[in-house]
Amino acid sequence: MKTDHNQRLGFGRYSKTAHGREGPHRTRRKDRRISEITVTTAKSQLMSTGEIIEVLAVIGGGKEATVLLAKNHEDELVCAKVFRFFTSTIKKRLRGTIHITASDMANLVAKQEYWNLYEMQKFVNVPKPRLLVDNIVIMDFIPEEEGSTKPAPLLREVDLGNFDPEELFYESIDLLAELFLKGYFIHGDYSEHNLMLTREGFLITMDVSQSVQYNTKTFITTPIRIRIDNAVELLRTDIENINQFFKRIYRIAIESEEVIEEIINELPLKLRNFLFQRTMEIYPSELYSPEIMVGKEKWRDEIIYHRTGTRRQQPK
Ligand SMILES: Nc1ncnc2c1ncn2[C@@H]1O[C@H](COP(=O)(O)OP(=O)(O)OP(=O)(O)O)[C@@H](O)[C@H]1O
Ligand SMILES: [Mg+2]
Repeated sequence: MKTDHNQRLGFGRYSKTAHGREGPHRTRRKDRRISEITVTTAKSQLMSTGEIIEVLAVIGGGKEATVLLAKNHEDELVCAKVFRFFTSTIKKRLRGTIHITASDMANLVAKQEYWNLYEMQKFVNVPKPRLLVDNIVIMDFIPEEEGSTKPAPLLREVDLGNFDPEELFYESIDLLAELFLKGYFIHGDYSEHNLMLTREGFLITMDVSQSVQYNTKTFITTPIRIRIDNAVELLRTDIENINQFFKRIYRIAIESEEVIEEIINELPLKLRNFLFQRTMEIYPSELYSPEIMVGKEKWRDEIIYHRTGTRRQQPK
């Protein structure tokens, strides 16, 4: 089986947003029940680090991790994300990759989350990472309001009565653009489920273990960075995810392609030239006549599908 970096990170054909899956978050949230055993294991793993004096609550849990609210030795509230050793996602990620044990895999994903947060905090609002111990990332807890033990609401939970949805929408796009242009990052799972909104109106993104950077110096995919044209495709999915949310709930939408174009225009010339060259390879200049431009989108999707086996998520 062909393997590559993206697949190892979960972006490839097994990713949540891969072709053939239902909408990325449609079935994920509804019957989320975190088993007792999972929580007990996570708690004891966290306690055994010696960094925590008390676990106060379970604040989240998806397929990959259990998120706990805890108190550290300085009596501060912290958030601990304990990555699970063996989950279906991890099992799938393991398929076709180099042999790695389940605990090593959890450690690796935790490491990615930690270092991605570490880098991203330089450019955008993310919970500040504090410590990485094996499969556990300890980070700042983002409360609903100061002193509260309730986490800040997710974008999907917020009653936007007090906020201007349009402004938030642009801010969420700005956040992606900053990450992309300044940090060379693609979030990779950007949506209303992974954005928190503080009472002061700050958007904070988290859940970044799958995030990845692109190469700015060479135009190939290397073990730790992907190629710029692949990065643009992933950025498109992120933009479309958030676009869908605002369209569905607030009936506001933007033209993803226009945003992408604007972002690309801000890239260094070298990268822009490379992207332009790639585009010309995909649709040669003689096909750029106005009549054909109408079908361009669809046609290009077909070519991308033919080459990569993945289909771009269609906006609803
Ligand atoms: N630093 C934090 N401060 C406060 N709450 C947090 C923090 N990090 C995560 N949470 C809460 O925990 C939930 C799960 O976190 P996260 O998305 O990182 O984990 P996950 O395992 O990927 O979960 P899911 O699969 O549900 O997305 C979030 O939706 C958020 O409500
Ligand atoms: Mg999440």
